[in-house]
Amino acid sequence: MIFDTHAHYDDEQFDTDRNELLLSMKDNGIGNIVNVGANMASSARSIGLSRQYDFIYAAVGVHPSDSLELTDDRLSELREMSSDPKCVAIGEIGLDYYWPEPDREIQKVWFRKQLRLAREVKLPVIIHSRDAALDTVTILKEEGAEDIGGVVHCFSYSKEVALECVGMGFYIGIGGVLTFKNARRLVEAAEVLPLEKIILETDCPYLSPVPFRGKRNSSLNLVYVVEKLAEIKGVSAEEIIDVTEKNARLMYRLDKS
Ligand code: NI
Repeated sequence: MIFDTHAHYDDEQFDTDRNELLLSMKDNGIGNIVNVGANMASSARSIGLSRQYDFIYAAVGVHPSDSLELTDDRLSELREMSSDPKCVAIGEIGLDYYWPEPDREIQKVWFRKQLRLAREVKLPVIIHSRDAALDTVTILKEEGAEDIGGVVHCFSYSKEVALECVGMGFYIGIGGVLTFKNARRLVEAAEVLPLEKIILETDCPYLSPVPFRGKRNSSLNLVYVVEKLAEIKGVSAEEIIDVTEKNARLMYRLDKS
């Protein structure tokens, strides 16, 4: 079944129909979902959802755009949350230079500290990186991220950077953007990447694939990403679903198949 490796179902955009929507997943071919934290509050809500639904797992971490809320005490709170049996990763963490704030140096400090937390608690990381390819790769190398592992989510860089990340043992997260008309660079990256290194994600409620671009996204729309990836790789949709699910389980270190 389809494994959505990155979703934000705690977002208020799902307040009206969250339970109904989540309960419809299995019947629509969606097996597992990882709900990803982006700040302290949404990390706690991710753990909450993972306790409420057996097929949902959680990731806890603070997004670079929210890194001003981090302190060493809050990092300890994240450490505490990460010990939950349903917590499978530290994330999303990283660098976002698209927005001028917070200061890049502050983002870097908390990116490194959360990478070290992941190493300490032996969980993979979910990396958010926007307009910051060079600094991201440099920090991952300096922090020895090769033996932490994880995913570069919503990948938006060149095929060369994709292969460099894969060379460090990382998976590449691909979602709705693959179906966009202007997605040439991502299509090129998907072409050269081994399928064994690709995982599927929505980042919902954001980044709906065509034909729903601009509307609220959900895991149900991953079929359009599967279709597009199958076309690029020249394999069946079933193979895309099977292999990417296997990859997700490996990356998140879930033993049951
Ligand atoms: Ni996200």
